[in-house]
Amino acid sequence: MRQAGRYLPEYRELKSRSSFLEMVKTPELAAEVTLQPLRRFPGIDAAILFSDILVIPEALGQPYHFRDTGGIAMQYRIETRQQVDQLIAPEEVPGRLNYVAETLTRLRKELGGQRALLGFGGSPWTLATYMVEGGSSEEFERIKLLFYTDRALFDALLEKLTAALIAYFKMQIAAGADAIQIFDSWGGIIAGCDYEAASLRWIREIISQLPADFPIILYAKGTGSHLIDQTFCGARVLSIDWSVDLRAARALVPKTIALQGNLDPLLMQTTPTIVAQESTRLLESIRGQSGHIFNLGHGITPQAKIECMQTLIDTVTRWR
Ligand code: CP3
Repeated sequence: MRQAGRYLPEYRELKSRSSFLEMVKTPELAAEVTLQPLRRFPGIDAAILFSDILVIPEALGQPYHFRDTGGIAMQYRIETRQQVDQLIAPEEVPGRLNYVAETLTRLRKELGGQRALLGFGGSPWTLATYMVEGGSSEEFERIKLLFYTDRALFDALLEKLTAALIAYFKMQIAAGADAIQIFDSWGGIIAGCDYEAASLRWIREIISQLPADFPIILYAKGTGSHLIDQTFCGARVLSIDWSVDLRAARALVPKTIALQGNLDPLLMQTTPTIVAQESTRLLESIRGQSGHIFNLGHGITPQAKIECMQTLIDTVTRWR
């Protein structure tokens, strides 16, 4: 999950001098931002690469920027077969994202074997929403209409994304990632009966092309009713959002699959007392069950309070 960002003064300081994309594309800066949360909170036991899921559309030839009013704007929308055909070939993607490999190599050296290093990428579906909508979206009409009315074009786009992601993840593994998290952040907007065709089948295809024993974490937001199907996609860990009851999820999911999550990130905007109480309650709800990785149920918000984060980490690391 995102753990770097604007809630940290040291992040704001770096960002006052470089843009987000400059930081992402400069291995020295990207490694520095990755390490900021770990320096401030030594109890955190994994570093997550500082980058963005949208570097894939960019490497395929569709650049993006952040709107001043918040959210993301792609330079254009994908609407035609010709545009899909004109995207850059997936096998060229790793070369164009060489800065990510360099950042991971640096981080691997800095972290030694002490803390896990997580690489990541978006799911084909989630990336396609940005590419077809032309950026952040409220109703996701264009991507859904494409799925319903021109399945051949939809599949052609998702095939390209799938191939690019396989090549990209292989590069991340070679550069030293210990695990890879796939973010299906918009899986929850798909009609329930279409989750397989629109998203899960592409994720399963990616995982099947990676080394068999390599740990993959699948995070999907708003897909609580697909938890059982997700257990068959090849992921070693399912990362769940805060809307799912962790205890109920643990009872459903086979013990061979770990669960990651799922404290509501909004709690980081309350008080240390509330954070201690709610994180303890979450841990108690699955006392005695193995295979749990504590995490927030989504990324940290810019309004999160440092003292709440500190209390969260103290509570989780001291809990017995
Ligand atoms: O801790 C880390 O550094 C993790 C790195 C990370 C980022 N983005 C950095 C980032 C990860 C894992 C992501 C994933 C990501 N990026 C997702 C999937 C996870 C999720 O949150 O659902 C998505 C959908 C994106 C695309 C994206 N990037 C969005 C929607 C935004 C917010 C845009 C806005 O209006 O603020 C970003 C920006 C972003 N990516 C930030 C960070 C630290 C915040 C940048 C800033 O505030 O300066």
